Amino acid sequence: MLNGLIHLHSGFRWIVLLLLIAAIVTAFKGWRSKKAYSGSDLKIHKFTFISLHIQLLLGLILYGMNWGKKVNFSAMSDKVTRFYTVEHFSMMLLAIIIASVGYIVSKKKTDDTARYKLVFFSYLVALVLILAAIPWPFGHWLAYGGKMG
Ligand code: HEM
Repeated sequence: MLNGLIHLHSGFRWIVLLLLIAAIVTAFKGWRSKKAYSGSDLKIHKFTFISLHIQLLLGLILYGMNWGKKVNFSAMSDKVTRFYTVEHFSMMLLAIIIASVGYIVSKKKTDDTARYKLVFFSYLVALVLILAAIPWPFGHWLAYGGKMG
C-alpha cells in the first residue's frame, strides 16, 4: 500500500510538471499577445490547479503514513528525515498555496492580460519551488547531495 502510493506520488510529479509548463507557456503567450482569455487556456490552467491538489493530497497521506519513520520531528539530525519532515513538506505546500491563490484570484480579473500575467507569475514561482523541493534520484541539495532513499 505504502509502496504503491509512493510510486503514484513519484510518477504523478511528471503530470504536475508537464501541466505547469504548459500552463506557464500559454499564460505567457496570452499575456504578451494581449489576446482574450480563451476556454482552452482556462482548461489547462484549471487542470494544473487540480493536479497540484491531487499531489498535495497524496503527499499528505504519505506524510501521515510515514509518521515516526521518514517523517519524524525527533530525528532532525538525519538529513533525509529532516528533508521529508520539514523541507519537502513546507516548500511544496508553499508552492501549491501560491499557485492556488494566483489561479483563484486570476478568475476574478476582468482584464484578460492581467489574468494571464497573474497565472504566469504564480505558476512560475510554484514551478521553481517544486523543482527545488523534488527529491531527484541524483540526490538533493538540501540533503547535501545525499541519496534520497
Ligand atoms: C507538487 C508537489 C509534490 C511533488 C512534485 C512531490 C514529489 C515527490 C517525489 C518525486 C517523491 C519521491 C518518491 C520516491 O521515493 O520515488 C516524494 C516523496 C514524498 N513526498 Fe512529495 N511531492 C509533492 C508534494 C508533497 C507534499 C505537499 C507532501 C506532504 C504533505 C509530500 C510528502 C512526501 C513524502 C512523505 C514523501 C516520502 C515518501 C516515502 O518515500 O515514503 N509531498 N514527493
